[in-house]
Parts: sequence; structure tokens; C-alpha cells
Amino acid sequence: MRVLGIETSCDETAVALVETNPWSTDILAQVISSQIELHRPYGGVVPEVATREHLRNLPLLVPRVLKDVNLGLEAIDAVAATEGPGLASSLLIGHSYARALAVALSKPMVGVNHLEGHLYSPFFASRRAVEFPFVGLIASGGHTLLVHALGWDRYIKLGSTVDDAAGEAFDKVAKLLGLPYPGGPEIERVAVKGNPEAFGLPRSFPERDNLNFSFSGLKTAVRFFYEKSARMQPDPVWSYDLCASFQKAVVDVLVRKSIQAVAQARVERMAVSGGVLCNKMLRDDLEFACYEAGIDLIVAEPAFCTDNAGMIAGTAAEKLAAGIEPHCGDDINPNLDLFAPEPHGDMARGLSAAIKLKKRQTGQVAEKSDVLAPGQIEIW
Ligand code: KG4
Ligand code: ZN
Repeated sequence: MRVLGIETSCDETAVALVETNPWSTDILAQVISSQIELHRPYGGVVPEVATREHLRNLPLLVPRVLKDVNLGLEAIDAVAATEGPGLASSLLIGHSYARALAVALSKPMVGVNHLEGHLYSPFFASRRAVEFPFVGLIASGGHTLLVHALGWDRYIKLGSTVDDAAGEAFDKVAKLLGLPYPGGPEIERVAVKGNPEAFGLPRSFPERDNLNFSFSGLKTAVRFFYEKSARMQPDPVWSYDLCASFQKAVVDVLVRKSIQAVAQARVERMAVSGGVLCNKMLRDDLEFACYEAGIDLIVAEPAFCTDNAGMIAGTAAEKLAAGIEPHCGDDINPNLDLFAPEPHGDMARGLSAAIKLKKRQTGQVAEKSDVLAPGQIEIW
């Protein structure tokens, strides 16, 4: 089965074609048109600029992907697009294009959760079959999330950020230090010249059983040292040290909590993704920590950590191949949650029906309390 995937949730226009085989899902072709240069002067993503670029690029990229593999539109078995979360105007372009294409080709249209795409992308990118259970770490500009993935649509949130996302913290600290957008690669570039132990920066939630993240205290501490150092030391070496110390603080927390999450979930596998996973120190430290703890770490090359369409097409293809009914949302949802009530709701409805049936069979009368609300259900 071949699935064409479209990703336009933020500032990358991405298209990919994937093919499922019995062992894994292969990415046949993919293209990404980055808009970073256009947004850089504004210090962040401008939704109107992103929308116009998606609209301009998408009709060029779809034929290019097909041409790269010498295939025509008739070779596509399903069309997938990001349904959310993301910028509403950006999501609308990719989602509407995909729906129109699916209708024109009389093929199924699959709406994919962007976070689910990140969750599985390390598998496709490493040409490995998705294997449950595993712990997923997603660290991007919009999210910092630890997920216990038990099966398709069966996710437990282990931890998430209570304020800024890790990538957002990189972007904000870079802005404070006068570095361009996006801040992550810039801080990494400067940090290699500095001493990561120079500044004693805070690590959030040190308790072992707390898998949440917080980066706002760290950001405030960087601001404090920045203002003090900028006043007292004209030599810019302190700014190299500050970048290195900040990077180390973020990496330490991400690594420690991920290892704790794997222990808590009692799994053997960890899949990591999101733009922050491009960071070499984070990749190296995670690799070392997983090696020491005997954890099978699945990490993609940097091009698959940032937003890409391979993860959208791949997720749709694997779910279709696994017999999961595709979520063919008619509309985008900019606030789509990975732990959305639908699957829990379906499961709750299924359980309620099962309890009622059992009671009827045993001659008991079903009570109101037998009806489970989505929030009441524990996923196993
Ligand atoms: O996954 P992504 O491309 O987009 C979102 O879904 O948010 O992640 C972008 C984020 C940005 O905040 C960027 O600063 C961060 O990933 N990032 C990095 C690095 N490369 C990108 N953070 C730290 N080190 C990097 N090398
Ligand atoms: Zn993303």
C-alpha cells in the first residue's frame, strides 16, 4: 500500500510517499520546503507568511515527489494530512489539498495527529517495524511530552511541560542573547565553545516520580546571569559558557526524565523525536544513558526529528495496514490532543456496553454507575 502524506502544521511544507511492506514502512520519496529564512527577520513564525508559502509550494511539491519515484497519481492508495495540532491557517492548506486529492482519486483520506507522527517517526526513519510497548519522548518547539505507547491509539501521558516546551526555551533564550531564530541550532553552535559547568542553572522537578518538565525557572535564571554578566564582563566568553550551561541543563532534565519514564512504564524501548532531538549533546547523552540502562533507543537522523511528511504518511500507512479504522476527519483541529477523548470514549462506550450485557445475561439490572465517562477509564 502506498500513502501520500502532507504536513503543513507550522512553517515547513512537506510531502512524502511511503510504502508498507510486511516488515516496515519505507519512505519512497520526500521533500521539505523550509520557510525559516522568511520567518527569521520576525524572530518567530508569522502565520500569514506560512499560509501563503504552503499554498504556493504544495502544488509544486506533490508532483515532484511522484516524479522522484516515477509514479503517477494512480499509484496512491490513500492520502494523509496533518489534522492538528498546529497553526489553523497552515493546517487548513495541507488538509484541504489532501481532501480534494482524495476525492478526485476516489481514495481514502486519513487525518493524522502531528504528535502521533512524531511518536512513530523514529521507527520509519530507522526502517524498523513499530513495536509496542515503548516510551516516546517528543521534544519540539511546541511540545515536551513523555508517552507510554501500549498500542495503536492506546497512549498514557507520563509527563509533559507545565510551561514552555524545550524547543521554545531554546528559542526564547537565544532571543534574549541576541541570537537568530530558530534558537536551538544557534545555541548549540555557540555552546560548543563554552563550559557547561560554568553557571549553576536549575533543573526542574528533581523528584524521581515526577515526569513533568518546567523550563521557565531555567529561563529566568539565564536572564539573571545574562544581565549580571553583560554588565560586568565585556569579554563574550561568558555568553559561550551561558549557552553551554543552558544546553546542559535542558539535556540533563530530558535524559533523566526519559530514563525514569522507561523504568516507570517497565518497557525496554524508547523512541525519541522532535526538533530538539537534532541536538548532538542530547543525542549523545541519551545514547549513553540508554546503553547503561539496557534500553533499546530508537532515534532518527536529524531530518526526521524535525517536522516532516514521512511521519504523517508512515503513521497513516501503518494504521491502515494494522486494520485500524482511519480517522478521516472532515476538518482540522488546531488543538488536537494525543490523548483525545475519542479512543478513550470509544473504549468507555465499549466497556459500558459489555458491563450492561453481562448484567443482562446474569439477570441483574444495569445501573447508571455502569456507564463509564471517558475520563473514568484507565487504559491498560
Ligand atoms: O519539531 P520541530 O521542527 O517543530 C515543532 O513541531 O515545533 O521543532 C522545532 C524546534 C525549535 O524550537 C528549534 O529551536 C528546536 O526544535 N531545535 C533545536 C535544535 N534544532 C532545532 N533545539 C536544540 N538543538 C538543536 N540542534
Ligand atoms: Zn513537530
